[in-house]
Amino acid sequence: MQAVYSIVELRQQVTAWRLQGETVAFVPTMGNLHAGHLALVAQARRHADRVVVSVFVNPLQFGADEDLASYPRTLAADSAKLEPVVDVLFAPSMMEVYPRGHEVASQIDVPEVSESLCGALRPGHFIGVATVVAKLFNMVQPNYTLFGEKDYQQLQVIRRMAADLCFPVEIIAVPTVRAVDGLALSSRNGYLSTVEREVAPRLYQALQKTVQGLIDGRRDYAALEREGREVLEGADFEPEYFSIRQAGSLKMADSEMPELIVLAAAKLGKTRLIDNLACSLVE
Ligand code: PAF
Repeated sequence: MQAVYSIVELRQQVTAWRLQGETVAFVPTMGNLHAGHLALVAQARRHADRVVVSVFVNPLQFGADEDLASYPRTLAADSAKLEPVVDVLFAPSMMEVYPRGHEVASQIDVPEVSESLCGALRPGHFIGVATVVAKLFNMVQPNYTLFGEKDYQQLQVIRRMAADLCFPVEIIAVPTVRAVDGLALSSRNGYLSTVEREVAPRLYQALQKTVQGLIDGRRDYAALEREGREVLEGADFEPEYFSIRQAGSLKMADSEMPELIVLAAAKLGKTRLIDNLACSLVE
């Protein structure tokens, strides 16, 4: 594995691969890597000759009251995990990504799919994500890119952004990796206390209960959502949303929709957790 810190050096390497007729898969991350990230890398390997992983904690996607300062920065440990499985670790500095400062950088706003759920609760978050991912796509110029389904809304925002801006990249969704008790792996799980960690799988259980209700024929979405929130409140979560939506578009679901996604965000103590579960009602 080669560690690369500059765009110039990255482009030289990617150009050399292309001249040899090799394809490139790209996994963007903010570091603090866990088995979920390594699943993205493993999928990347299956699709392309070369794999690039970026590690960059993007200030533009954090709100003023969020955890940018305390977000775990673990580059040495991340590098050791990536060493045997990737070709390039791209770890650009802030100056490399935002030479004039992130506050004054040109921004990408993806309408509609960004607006509800996490987008409504974290104003500017998806502008920050779409902007940095577009910049990273331009730096790496990959054939393939891989995103986890755990950040379901992010995945849809990136799909829309790449389509609208004609990025010649194939976006591959990778299923959520879960701990044995069902908790979706996340860099933020490390913030949970021992007691909170025991309670945290209730988020996934609440989603499973809702999906089971849908499979059993229930179409009273508002009641199902209320019950989901109540399960979370009963386990000492503070739910931010618990919502049944159309898969892909994230528009409000109606009873005719066969492809649904149930999404939830909730605070457990100081930690914000998100998760989702798809439900296909096609006969
Ligand atoms: O999912 C993440 O880790 C980040 O949002 C991403 C896609 C790397 C952009 O900073």
